[in-house]
Amino acid sequence: MKPAILISRTIPDGALALARQRATVDLHPGPEPLPKAELMARLKDKAGLVCLLTDRVDAEVLAAAPRLRVAANVAVGYDNIDVAAATARGIVVTNTPEVLTETTADFAWTLLTAVARRLVEADRYLRAGKFTQWELMLFLGGDIHGKTLGIIGFGRIGRTVARRARGFSMRVLYHDAVRADPATERELGAAFVDKMTLLRESDFVSLHAPLLPTTRHLIDRAELQAMKRTAYLVNTARGPLVNEAALVEALREGWIAGAALDVYEDEPRVHPGLLELNNVVLAPHIASASAETRLKMATMAVENCLAVLEGDPPKTPVNPEVLRR
Ligand SMILES: NC(=O)c1ccc[n+]([C@@H]2O[C@H](COP(=O)([O-])OP(=O)(O)OC[C@H]3O[C@@H](n4cnc5c(N)ncnc54)[C@H](O)[C@@H]3O)[C@@H](O)[C@H]2O)c1
Repeated sequence: MKPAILISRTIPDGALALARQRATVDLHPGPEPLPKAELMARLKDKAGLVCLLTDRVDAEVLAAAPRLRVAANVAVGYDNIDVAAATARGIVVTNTPEVLTETTADFAWTLLTAVARRLVEADRYLRAGKFTQWELMLFLGGDIHGKTLGIIGFGRIGRTVARRARGFSMRVLYHDAVRADPATERELGAAFVDKMTLLRESDFVSLHAPLLPTTRHLIDRAELQAMKRTAYLVNTARGPLVNEAALVEALREGWIAGAALDVYEDEPRVHPGLLELNNVVLAPHIASASAETRLKMATMAVENCLAVLEGDPPKTPVNPEVLRR
């Protein structure tokens, strides 16, 4: 008999077809995430879950799923899942690293260039019918080439962002909880510095650390005040890495020149102060959203889920200790 799985939101057709070949699928097709009570009710008889970062899979949800053996997140970050609670229950948690690295790095650059060259503001200006003549002083932004890029979180995505900086002849600084090996530093031309040095010296600061208790408000008032008044902050990692209220103050008061954000402290809510400002570019959490990559992510999550249910090791477990039991 095929195992029963819940897929908590619509996923690309190819990935859904794969799931249906080898499992009995209960799909929540709605545009909204399942309310917690319904998620719990629908998980009661399921052996597998394919979920998204908008599903909060906490200890209470896991306790309501006595048959659950795997929670396969369609994301590389898994801060939406209580991994410790899952591990205690012998539930494997998986994520989707690597397949979204290049696409997410592309988007960090999309945001960086958009905010530095004021593209969104300029687009709004043109659409409002205000482009009546070429002007020497119109929408003066900041240069990118030859500047210093500071990367906080020098893992897969951070390093891929660094690699692209070579095309812009930039100096690259990085900070991470763990220093990279000398060969990687040489290859990427990146220098390890402490966080405050990075903030003081960078013209662009791009965040690529996971959300952990230690990275919450990694960028707070003191950090924003340490940055150059001409610098830009880019966040494609997780919203709570930045104290959003402090960021609003920094952008309003000119502590920094601008920010470009894909993620927010309390998604999908965006701090109202950000919405009023012109020196911030706001994207609705789409850094990995290319058609190819979203299909790869969903397929990888389905494959991880099916592997566990069929007794094979999943490709990318985040709590592999469960598999060794
Ligand atoms: N906006 C999006 O759609 C999107 C897409 C993909 C990934 N992400 C986010 O990006 C994050 C990074 O993804 P990845 O694949 O590069 O992960 P990764 O694990 O390869 O890299 C994360 C790096 O952060 C470092 N780190 C951990 N704690 C730190 C700290 N306190 N200070 C500095 N560095 C620290 C780690 O040592 C590691 O090198 C994910 O956790 C996810 O939350 C967001």
